[in-house]
Amino acid sequence: MGQLPKHTHPDLIVGFETSDDAGVFRLRDDLALVQTVDFLTPMVDDPFMFGAISAANALSDVYAMGGKPVTAMNIVSFPVRKVPLEILERILAGGFEKVHEAGAILVGGHTVDDPEPKFGMSVTGVVHPERVIANRGAKPGDRLVLTKPIGVGILTTALKEGLLQPPAIEEVSRVMATLNRAASEAMVEVGVHAATDVTGFGLLGHLHEMLAASEVSSILSMERIPRFEGVFDWIRQDVVPGGTRRNLRTLEEFLRGESSPEERLLLADAQTSGGLLMAVPPDHLDRLFEAFRARGVRGWEIGEISENPATAIEITR
Ligand code: CO
Ligand code: CO
Repeated sequence: MGQLPKHTHPDLIVGFETSDDAGVFRLRDDLALVQTVDFLTPMVDDPFMFGAISAANALSDVYAMGGKPVTAMNIVSFPVRKVPLEILERILAGGFEKVHEAGAILVGGHTVDDPEPKFGMSVTGVVHPERVIANRGAKPGDRLVLTKPIGVGILTTALKEGLLQPPAIEEVSRVMATLNRAASEAMVEVGVHAATDVTGFGLLGHLHEMLAASEVSSILSMERIPRFEGVFDWIRQDVVPGGTRRNLRTLEEFLRGESSPEERLLLADAQTSGGLLMAVPPDHLDRLFEAFRARGVRGWEIGEISENPATAIEITR
């Protein structure tokens, strides 16, 4: 999309040039639209769970902007003549449940016959134009907070290869299907400088987008980064998705400090329906964690923003 001409409009608050999670367009002085679309190929075997995870993933881009989802539309690719329609009904039911949990309304959708099933949603939300939380805005001294563990891409690759065992399958599915709603409401209530959700470009990629948009750098504390159990064992067995390796190849040049190859792959791991990554002014940190506790949200302080505009990511222990 970098090759496309950029629209400029006085009411366009967030367009595509900062790689933000959603577009934001002002309708009135006190109301802006938040619009996003996302669809995925199956990452779990259970069709209901696939639908729920895909919907949570699509809704997340509205939450990452501090918005509230209002309506959603299904986007479906399905091998209509080859796979029983009951499977598609289960996928849609999973998606519907998440839209309902988000307090939004499903208003339609579109299906195409396709050998490879895909499911996702376009989601429209609302936000006050002055309370949009974008990629840009992170300031030196801000603490970085993450709300879900990483390693989803590695675990779902193990799952696809038939290697992952039931307790771990349930755990990674539960985390992916968890809405970022409560985490977003907490950050909106307390106020943060910048936020994004961690998805296909991994923690490193989405952090880098935030740093680039904000013209700052960051320090990550490796020990504090939440990760799924057993993730380094899978990496050592070479169970790593291609997307994760590609992420690392494009982001490696920004890394500073000491880290092992396994740690770098974890940091670059492509997530599905990952958590929110927030740049939090230090004097708001306690209140944010209180707001998390009040809503039953987990959060981890994983590092901080530093001054250097060269968007470096320094890894410390
Ligand atoms: Co996003
Ligand atoms: Co997205």
